[in-house]
Amino acid sequence: MLSLIEQLQQTTAFIRQQCGTTPTIGIVLGSGLGNFIGEMKVEKEISYSDIPHFPVSTVEGHSGKLIFGQIGNKNVVAMAGRFHFYEGYTPQQVIYPVRVMKMLGVETVLISNAAGGVNKNFAVGDLMIIRDHISFFAINPLLGKNEDDMGPRFPDMSEPYSHALIAKAKTIAQRLQIPVQTGVYTGVTGPTFETRAEYQLIQILGGDAVGMSTVQEVIAAVHAGMQVFAMSVITDIGIREEENTITHEEVLQAARDAEPKLTAIFTELIAEL
Ligand code: HPA
Repeated sequence: MLSLIEQLQQTTAFIRQQCGTTPTIGIVLGSGLGNFIGEMKVEKEISYSDIPHFPVSTVEGHSGKLIFGQIGNKNVVAMAGRFHFYEGYTPQQVIYPVRVMKMLGVETVLISNAAGGVNKNFAVGDLMIIRDHISFFAINPLLGKNEDDMGPRFPDMSEPYSHALIAKAKTIAQRLQIPVQTGVYTGVTGPTFETRAEYQLIQILGGDAVGMSTVQEVIAAVHAGMQVFAMSVITDIGIREEENTITHEEVLQAARDAEPKLTAIFTELIAEL
């Protein structure tokens, strides 16, 4: 059986055969936030199902693809469709594409997600720059044998989200007159949304938002020495005692409505990298 590094090498070799450019920026987009791809001058699209060793999609006809191209004058690779732990993928499968990005030459990863607000000052449609995270039952994807060629056994997590990129993004938001919140993202497994008691617990623990993605990808990126910037769109306010029902449709709609603001900040940030 191939080792993980051998698998990654085969995946990377296949992608390099298909696409000549070397991306330095990787982009992972959240639910309802896929239109950002429209900002790209697309060079090559590769379906996940064609890429050796890529996780196989659990949803038929919804396999997703890696998209290579440029934003401004920067070479980027974007994931159209990410892998969630709640879909039944192992944590190692969830982070496989992030590791592939590293092998391809990516130095900076930009991540977006839809998240529930647990900070009472937040409103639906707010953008939140993630300044830190709490992994709350999101299984650590580095459990098991360490891949020494990827990164250290015990990675430092004192600054998972680059302070320099956060400062840049805040300046950009101000210039574009887009209000942004800053806060702590709490990663959960899902697929249930939280109970009222859980939203309250997450708030007491120091979370400002809660969602079902991102944390495992960020851990993998930090382990591999890449810098990370991540932003949430607040799609619901679970902490509210009243009007506390949440649907996936509502989440997607709120994400789509807020997307142009997120796209503007990501695009400018990429230009300044
Ligand atoms: N909880 C968890 N994940 C989410 C939520 C939420 O309230 N909203 C969007 N993703």
